[in-house]
Amino acid sequence: MRVLGIESSCDETAAAVVEDGRRVLSSVVFSQERLHRPFQGIVPEIASRAQLEQIGPVVRRALAGAFPAWDRTAKRTAPPIDAIAVTVGPGLVGSLLVGKMTAEALGWAWNKPTVGVNHLEGHLFANLLLDRSLRPPFLGLVVSGGHTDLILVEDFGRYRVLGRTRDDAAGESFDKVAKLLGLGYPGGPAIDRLARRGDPASIPFPRPHLASSWDFSFSGLKTAVLYYLEKAGYGRGRFPDRRIAADVCASFQSAVTDVLVAKTVRAARKYRADQVVVGGGVSANSRLRSEFSKAGGKWGLKIHLPSLRLCTDNAAMIASAGHYRLKAGAGKGPLNIDPSLPVSDWAGPKAG
Ligand code: KG4
Ligand code: ZN
Repeated sequence: MRVLGIESSCDETAAAVVEDGRRVLSSVVFSQERLHRPFQGIVPEIASRAQLEQIGPVVRRALAGAFPAWDRTAKRTAPPIDAIAVTVGPGLVGSLLVGKMTAEALGWAWNKPTVGVNHLEGHLFANLLLDRSLRPPFLGLVVSGGHTDLILVEDFGRYRVLGRTRDDAAGESFDKVAKLLGLGYPGGPAIDRLARRGDPASIPFPRPHLASSWDFSFSGLKTAVLYYLEKAGYGRGRFPDRRIAADVCASFQSAVTDVLVAKTVRAARKYRADQVVVGGGVSANSRLRSEFSKAGGKWGLKIHLPSLRLCTDNAAMIASAGHYRLKAGAGKGPLNIDPSLPVSDWAGPKAG
């Protein structure tokens, strides 16, 4: 089965064709980073307008990449796909609508079924595109700009959400700390780069472990960085030099990764999961990747991390999740977007 995936939940416009849920035939991502950079964050109106401008060309490029012969036939017939999968939440309402309407229009025109996919679920499925033998059960950790969710994946479409963030998401905390340091947007990659030149042990930032719960909380850590900078005479438009900023980045990054890795390993051991699957933009972080690999070796856990291109938003992961949803007979019926769509069982009321 070949599925055209469409992802437009936030500030990336993406389309991909995936065969049998595992083989990427094409994947195209248009990032709006440049448009939002002057505002140091995502502006929803700009995001949805850019989605609208880009979705047509991006889908066309993904189909042309997967099916060059079809592309040469003036595209009068439907492309050789079996279904269309699209992100229906969580995300920005205007951005989500663009993907949903595109999927509905193409599904109608080409007479193909459509299936709605949860974006967070997609981030975990990104790992199935790399390791073809990977299948549940596993413990999933989604670390993105909007979410930090620890999810026990008991089977395809059978989820138990153990914990989530109570305030800032992991990626959001990277973005906010980068702003405090004047590093621009998005903050994660900038902090990751600068941290390589700093000492992770130089500043003892707190590790918010919330020992009695599987939830996360990163806003206190961000405030600790703010107080540290203010005490050192920075803030209000004054930024530290690169050497000091590098130490702040390395110390902050080490605090975030310590918490994420420790808690995930603790949950894996408690629930006897021998595989851990990580996804979302923050899974591109070099320290998080190396600490997870070390912890995997120490505790006998198989750690799955997406390739760097599959960490951040893309449509291949949506096509893969859509494939498995369709195979399970889930997700039929009209597409309903939900900006705060929770991860829930495919058989449940929110499936599809
Ligand atoms: O998954 P994603 O592309 O979009 C959402 O679904 O939110 O994640 C974007 C987030 C941003 O907060 C960005 O700063 C963060 O992922 N990010 C990183 C890195 N690359 C992207 N955070 C830490 N280190 C990185 N290398
Ligand atoms: Zn995402």
